[in-house]
Amino acid sequence: MDKVPEPLDFSLSAVDPIPPDGVAAIAEILSSGNLFRYGESVGLDSYVAKLEQEFAQIHGKKYAIAVNSGGCALFLALVAVGVTNGEPVMMNAFTLAPVPGAIKHCGAEAILLDTSAELVIDLDSLLNAVKTTGSRILLLSYMRGHIPDMDEVLKIVRGNNLVLIEDCAHVLGAKWNGRAMGTLGDVSCFSLQTYKQVNGGEGGMILTDDEDIAARVILMSGSYMLYRQHQSRPDDEVLSKWAGKTPNYSMRLNEISAAAVLSQLPILQQRIEQWNSIHRRIATGISSIEGLSVPNVSRMIQPAPTSIQFISQHESSEINAAIHTANSLGLQIKWFGAEEASGFTSIHCHWSYLPPQTLDSTDSIMKRLLDIRLPSSLSDEECDAIIEIVKYAFPST
Ligand SMILES: Cc1ncc(COP(=O)(O)O)c(C=O)c1O
Repeated sequence: MDKVPEPLDFSLSAVDPIPPDGVAAIAEILSSGNLFRYGESVGLDSYVAKLEQEFAQIHGKKYAIAVNSGGCALFLALVAVGVTNGEPVMMNAFTLAPVPGAIKHCGAEAILLDTSAELVIDLDSLLNAVKTTGSRILLLSYMRGHIPDMDEVLKIVRGNNLVLIEDCAHVLGAKWNGRAMGTLGDVSCFSLQTYKQVNGGEGGMILTDDEDIAARVILMSGSYMLYRQHQSRPDDEVLSKWAGKTPNYSMRLNEISAAAVLSQLPILQQRIEQWNSIHRRIATGISSIEGLSVPNVSRMIQPAPTSIQFISQHESSEINAAIHTANSLGLQIKWFGAEEASGFTSIHCHWSYLPPQTLDSTDSIMKRLLDIRLPSSLSDEECDAIIEIVKYAFPST
């Protein structure tokens, strides 16, 4: 029997402090009481408006609209591209609950697509769904930072006149062949929730080059008649064309979250480098353990991982026992194959508000798929302590 490793003396839920600039800005917001982005005589220079401008600029997109969550960003993007009640919307099944939730929110029907061994959308499943459902919308989720062959995806999107909505909740700062994720589709959505690449507590962001989509999102997000306080916005004629006939869903971002995120954008690249080096070290360690493997990442991808996924060849009962052992040593391993949804992790069979769908490849992969969150502050010693616990918890096959 191997020696029992020392329990972890740090938390996997650890997050970085908000940088001093952000703390000062938030203190100023609190002492002024101006927590809301709009005002009749203020609002033009709000933190939210600044964040939208910077987000659009770093992605080279015309418009960015900040909202109150990533899930609401997805909902607004779907409505803005014209999704109607009962319309089929294709989405890759390997994702998290806010994605089918956003489709349900706008009354559409989620068509789940299967998963490849690389943990990305199965392209045959996509082609088949296009043929059999006639769906015109692909909501593509880069779940846990896993990015499919975007050249192939875009070929299918263009060849079938699909609208591509990118769910970039886990890929802020990642790239496909040098192109930033969130710049490849018609609209893209980001999450600013605490455990993402930037931490606003809550929040979401929508990017697009399409003026009608931007105008509709600005109005739906809840800008009242104050939409001119957006610095990143289409011309007035476009906005007034949509005003009045566009409902207000009140999904605005607040000033505190925006100030927190703004202060993190200058250090995003440095954080991504830290995350990549942590991921590389832990991936090397886990792949050297018998019965465990880490899926390959294409050389076309420049990743921005905030977690690591690995596949186990063990029986379900052994996986359960291993998770229990790791947990008792302070290492929370999540399992997509667990019968009950837990924490942030769920899969399609847990979304019982959807009609059941057959997804053979997804199901067989999820049964073996494990997941660990990675704080960006992990030292080499802390990475090695994680590897040691994984090695101890999973018995040799
Ligand atoms: C893959 C994915 N998409 C979308 C979202 C939605 O983000 P939010 O939590 O900000 O609503 C999440 C949230 O974790 C997510 O994991």
